Amino acid sequence: MRRYTLTGRQDPRLILGNDEDLRPGKGEIAVDLRAASLNYRDLIVSRNVEGVVPLSDGAGVIAGIGEGVEGHAIGDRVVLGFMPHWVEGDITEAKKASSLGGQGMDGVLRERIIVPASGVVRIPEPMSFEAAATLPCAGVTAWAALFERRPVQPGETVLLLGTGGVSIFALQLAKMAGARVIITSSSDEKLARARALGADECINYRQVPDWENEVLRLTDGKGADLAVDVGGPATLNKTLMAVRFGGRISLMGVLTGYDGPINTGLILGKRITLQGIYVGPVSSLRALAKTGIVPQIDHVYPFEEAEAAYEALQGAGHFGKLVIRIGG
Ligand SMILES: NC(=O)c1ccc[n+]([C@@H]2O[C@H](COP(=O)([O-])OP(=O)(O)OC[C@H]3O[C@@H](n4cnc5c(N)ncnc54)[C@H](OP(=O)(O)O)[C@@H]3O)[C@@H](O)[C@H]2O)c1
Repeated sequence: MRRYTLTGRQDPRLILGNDEDLRPGKGEIAVDLRAASLNYRDLIVSRNVEGVVPLSDGAGVIAGIGEGVEGHAIGDRVVLGFMPHWVEGDITEAKKASSLGGQGMDGVLRERIIVPASGVVRIPEPMSFEAAATLPCAGVTAWAALFERRPVQPGETVLLLGTGGVSIFALQLAKMAGARVIITSSSDEKLARARALGADECINYRQVPDWENEVLRLTDGKGADLAVDVGGPATLNKTLMAVRFGGRISLMGVLTGYDGPINTGLILGKRITLQGIYVGPVSSLRALAKTGIVPQIDHVYPFEEAEAAYEALQGAGHFGKLVIRIGG
């Protein structure tokens, strides 16, 4: 059974090797993976971690069932939760520690994995393995950003930044919920694709660096009801300007780093609810998979070309998701 591990360097990032015979223990299943998808997180992990099997998001077929497992059968098509131990309820440190494909926890860029049986969700027909493999991180994060605490309401305005994995899922889900979507991008071509998916208003943030003012103009000076901030320190103050009094921001992004001066006066003065997002539980993955969403896949790479998928992610030319096909 082949698997990649991280070198901790950039060139090459990955080394191909073999797993020992992997068998499920009590409460576990073996999954023969058919597809994995990449997230921005995987770039960060690849720069900082060595010797671990990378990638968190995978889908495949159940190939073995451990003692005491019920409700699963060999041959079932399943997608893995990003944190297989976070099945439902609130997050805890222990649940977070089960995040696949990070420091101290092997991930899915391999042909077989052993996971807790409670950490997977059946893939609905006719969703492909490639499509299912995009859901665990980007899809569930977008779901959490829009629906977890106070679900977005029909007619509300949602602001999205960029056209990466999380933002495009958020665009599709916000439109399903009947919201009006304003989205930004560095690329007019990507904005045209976003419009084709239902985006109501598009702003090129390179051409319009003070895009927060454009959001205010597009909302009659009021601001968006909810913003999904994937940028972090360099975008958050602008996002605070762009949401309405009493509005909300779901913050999950680190595209511009982890630290920076934040205008706390705007948070309290506008009574903005700023909610931190760290993916979500298996229960959200199950709910998302049932929506019938069609994930936007930019490109599928063969297992042997996994390095090329990382290069593409780093190049940021993609729209939506990058996927690696495994086995089969
Ligand atoms: N906390 C969590 O649970 C969680 C979960 C998932 C993701 N994240 C974070 O969310 C962020 C996005 O993840 P992803 O996987 O969706 O990334 P991705 O697919 O790599 O998307 C990156 C895209 O973001 C846009 N972008 C980059 N810099 C920007 C900026 N300064 N302002 C606005 N847009 C910008 C670009 O879109 P254009 O090319 O259109 O300009 C770029 O293509 C990352 O920081 C990731 O770590 C966090």
